[in-house]
Amino acid sequence: MNVNGRHYRTIWLKETDNTVVQIINQLALPHSFDIIDLRTVEDVRRAIKDMYVRGAGLIGATAAYGMYLAVLEAGEGSFTADLLRSAEILKNTRPTASNLAWAVDRMLVTLTDSADLPPAKKCEDARIEAQAIADEDADSCRRIGIHGVEIIKAIAARKKGETVNILTHCNAGWLAFVDYGSALSPVYAAHDAGLKVHVWVDETRPRNQGASLTAWELGQHGVPHDLIPDNAGGHLMQHGMVDMVITGADRVTRCGDAANKIGTYLKAAAAKENGVPFYVALPSSTFDFNMRDGLKEIPIEERDASEVRFVSGKTKSGALKTVQICPDSTSARNWGFDVTPARYITGLISERGICEASEQGILGLYPEQAAGQGCTHG
Ligand code: MRU
Repeated sequence: MNVNGRHYRTIWLKETDNTVVQIINQLALPHSFDIIDLRTVEDVRRAIKDMYVRGAGLIGATAAYGMYLAVLEAGEGSFTADLLRSAEILKNTRPTASNLAWAVDRMLVTLTDSADLPPAKKCEDARIEAQAIADEDADSCRRIGIHGVEIIKAIAARKKGETVNILTHCNAGWLAFVDYGSALSPVYAAHDAGLKVHVWVDETRPRNQGASLTAWELGQHGVPHDLIPDNAGGHLMQHGMVDMVITGADRVTRCGDAANKIGTYLKAAAAKENGVPFYVALPSSTFDFNMRDGLKEIPIEERDASEVRFVSGKTKSGALKTVQICPDSTSARNWGFDVTPARYITGLISERGICEASEQGILGLYPEQAAGQGCTHG
């Protein structure tokens, strides 16, 4: 997508030195647009863990490039052991998004095949595979837009061309992937097709990905939007001010339960109560076909309490500041994600199309997964 009129992806290899991975520093947005270099597996580990990059698809692509750097670092005589150690380091950075382990495992399969090849060929194979993972992520998101825009078109037609109001939570835009985004890809496609769309952007406490990232990228693309406090969505739905909700997902089980940023479940419950359609958009790499019951099985990351106790932002004079918002002695808890049960989800939008959030619906799009475990819950 474009930043100040120039096209960027969220991750790429440096043009003048393809042993350096470059990323947009998402910790600095929206106040400054910085690009930083990742040169080692340790750089990649820190970038994922400390959320310089975040969002399911981008975490996966970053880990894939991390495995490429792991090949550059691996010793001749200890190639496989070194690689497996790097894979573990990268997989242990964040637990909830399935794209991370998926990408690392896919790199391992390719690199196991290359283990006996000369070093230069191993590096080339790793670079090509990481690039393929990134390219596929971008292309899947582009296709999510093509499918999802049909839903927006249908609502626009029903509203006789009036603005379609879409609520989203967290950031599942192009910053969360390599390009386009999942939840926001249909929104961009609708806007680009000349449909009137407006986005309600949940601020998404505690890290405020909605305020700092979603609002920024929608603004860069010229999509009308308003930032709202996290607890406003229910009120807007009660008053007919939300036509649909689209969120992303960090992991979706074969039965359609979806883990996404904390607070998503409350939006889904409010949407169901108010008859507002609730869609979850995801590339195939976010499905976890080995899990059935999302509530019981999806690992939920718990992050540092300081993210709840402090907020950061720009003062009126333009300085960046972090301030404490609770008494000195107050403790806090900070779960990063929650699980929305499939029964709250109107449909899943993937690059293969739109399906019901149920095992039957999902297997309709992914028949090759039918041999796996069946669902034990509704
Ligand atoms: O903690 P984050 O920012 O990595 O969380 C991921 C998310 O941005 C959201 O949960 C998003 O909606 C799904 S990831 C495309």
